[in-house]
Amino acid sequence: MAGSGKRILVVGSGAREHALADGIRQDPSRPEVLVCPGNPGMPGDFRVVPSLPEDPGEAAKWIGSLSPDLVVIGPEKPLAAGLSDALREKGIAVLGPSASAARIEASKLFAKERMREAGIPTADFQVTEDAGSVRDAVRSFGYPAVLKADGLAQGKGVFVLHSPEDLEEALEKVFRRHDLESQTKFFVEKGLSGPEVSFIVLTDGTRFLPFPEARDYKRIGDGNRGPNTGGMGAVTPLSGWTPKDQEDACHLIDRTLWAMRRHGTPFQGFLYAGLMKTPEGLKVLEFNARFGDPEAQVLVPAAGESLLSLLESAVGGALPAEAHLSRTPRVAVVLAAGGYPEKPVSGIALQGLDKAREQDGTRLYMAGIKEKNGQLVTSGGRILSVVGEGKTIREAREKAYRTISLIGLEGGQFRTDIGAEEAGE
Ligand code: AMP
Ligand code: GLY
Repeated sequence: MAGSGKRILVVGSGAREHALADGIRQDPSRPEVLVCPGNPGMPGDFRVVPSLPEDPGEAAKWIGSLSPDLVVIGPEKPLAAGLSDALREKGIAVLGPSASAARIEASKLFAKERMREAGIPTADFQVTEDAGSVRDAVRSFGYPAVLKADGLAQGKGVFVLHSPEDLEEALEKVFRRHDLESQTKFFVEKGLSGPEVSFIVLTDGTRFLPFPEARDYKRIGDGNRGPNTGGMGAVTPLSGWTPKDQEDACHLIDRTLWAMRRHGTPFQGFLYAGLMKTPEGLKVLEFNARFGDPEAQVLVPAAGESLLSLLESAVGGALPAEAHLSRTPRVAVVLAAGGYPEKPVSGIALQGLDKAREQDGTRLYMAGIKEKNGQLVTSGGRILSVVGEGKTIREAREKAYRTISLIGLEGGQFRTDIGAEEAGE
């Protein structure tokens, strides 16, 4: 099938990687796209290949044997482990930061230090050693305050504290029960308030191309209730986002890239700024060293058929000054397994996918899925994303919800309010 003979390998297995692979395949040269390890819900011609060894050197050797023209790394874990370094050592072109640059996500204190150096607005913070110093810091900031673990904790390392009861509960978990035993450093931050915005750019280390602003929905339930998840949906663009916000966000990305170069850890790949629009202006809550999931599902299609050439130019250190990314309204609704996020139920059959795939103006991106006796069944928490596209967010939302209603999954859960506020509902 490959017109150009180019072979692109996407590392990862979720809906974000499915969206990236799908976008790359739109390139006019019709490259061959492999997803590693992918999942059996993805189209067969992505030629899903087996899991990679965890060791970056071994993984790079294995990837090298496939002779890809470009490797695009989706998730944070292989980035933090140094997969992009190991690939570069072998002379393989790769989109994704080095392990030392990926520390901007893997170590929240590293990110705080870069922000402090570059004068980037973020919440004040104090590094804490033990329960006593956490109490002191919370006393000095007042409520709300936020206790954060330094390292990667799959969303479990952040405790927003509104009261002394919240504080005691967090201290119990962290310092007495040692629920986060792999975490050694903690800090306390002043609590901020305002709407959150995901601002994601593609960068060659100096120049960058911003994707449209988006919002993700982290809680499992409607009205932002219930426990945190990996993300239950996303919407783009946002009505409250002004030209001044865009300018401020671009400025802070520019300063961040400067701080990363100055520190000797230039950042190439997708840089994700988790922003909060506070009464004093935009502030950075966190950086991620990768595309967001489910943000990718609504934003990657914005590049249309130019995605691959943009990725290649970022890898080559020469992103174009101008590129067209559409601001078409999109809404992604995530279908999660029963029991998610605590204990997702595996092995439940999915029905109606063929019908759902045929719907106009929607796309399906597959995630926690495996094959059992020739059927697609659940395997993990977030099972798939349905993305609706329209002239308005209201239309995008209607399409996404119409399509997701065609999919049968016993015990399946999805939020019904993704994009509702943006649609004025
Ligand atoms: P993080 O992983 O640092 O983005 O934190 C996860 C979530 O915790 C964010 O999306 C916010 O909802 C919340 N959060 C983090 N830091 C703060 C803060 N300083 N003030 C208020 N909420 C915060
Ligand atoms: N959607 C949030 C994240 O990818 O971290």
